[in-house]
Amino acid sequence: MADIRVYPDPPAVARAAADTIVSCARDARSAGRPFALVLSGGSTPNLLYELLAADPYCSRIDWPNVEIYFGDERAVPPDHADSNFRMASGSLLSRVPLKPENIHRMRGEIDPTEAAIEYGRMLKTRFGDTGGPDLTLLGMGDDGHTASLFPGTPAIHETHHRCVAQFVEKSTTGRSWRITLTAPFLNRSACILAMVTGAGKAARLREVLHGPRDPERLPIQLIQPDPGSLQWLLDTAAASQLQAQM
Ligand code: 6PG
Repeated sequence: MADIRVYPDPPAVARAAADTIVSCARDARSAGRPFALVLSGGSTPNLLYELLAADPYCSRIDWPNVEIYFGDERAVPPDHADSNFRMASGSLLSRVPLKPENIHRMRGEIDPTEAAIEYGRMLKTRFGDTGGPDLTLLGMGDDGHTASLFPGTPAIHETHHRCVAQFVEKSTTGRSWRITLTAPFLNRSACILAMVTGAGKAARLREVLHGPRDPERLPIQLIQPDPGSLQWLLDTAAASQLQAQM
């Protein structure tokens, strides 16, 4: 059974995610190791990033012990309006005491294939052949994509590389090159939080959670961390077509 948690609204979803991030960061701290956090792009996590950058959450996290990674990036410079790094930097990274060397952004300004290769190499060096992040944030597009794993694209069939680049005909930013972590690497995360809000995603979410398995059409179905956990953090609007079935 999927671990589905429904909250009244997007701020409550963001608070639930922030609480989990604080407790996982503490677990890593008390175990004497860095906390490896993968950020999601898009608009949904912005509320969460704003929350983490302010008290009461900000002072509950040992930020110098936090390593930041990205689930995907658009092939644009870091100051571009479409840049996930820019979004996360503005609402979180520039406002908390992270060590600059612990912020691992995908270089959207260089050749996307080169950027994916260098990011994959960095992940291999950091996590080895079997290790993975402590916590990964993911969103879902209303077409069922996650990170930049879009329906019908080559990246959803990737079984070897940790990070790939691909040209996407239909993405949330139009026809564009994207750099994305792959499902095999994402599934090495100890904990994945899939944050999905808004009525516009309700029908697709019902298909993803209660419909037949069809990752070619619904790539977020590829997200099955093992032995890690996957929590769906939803607001009532996004979960509105689930309730009827449960
Ligand atoms: C991106 C994201 C993408 C996002 C979904 C949902 O780069 O766009 O990583 O996977 O999570 O498109 O986006 P919204 O949160 O804006 O609905």
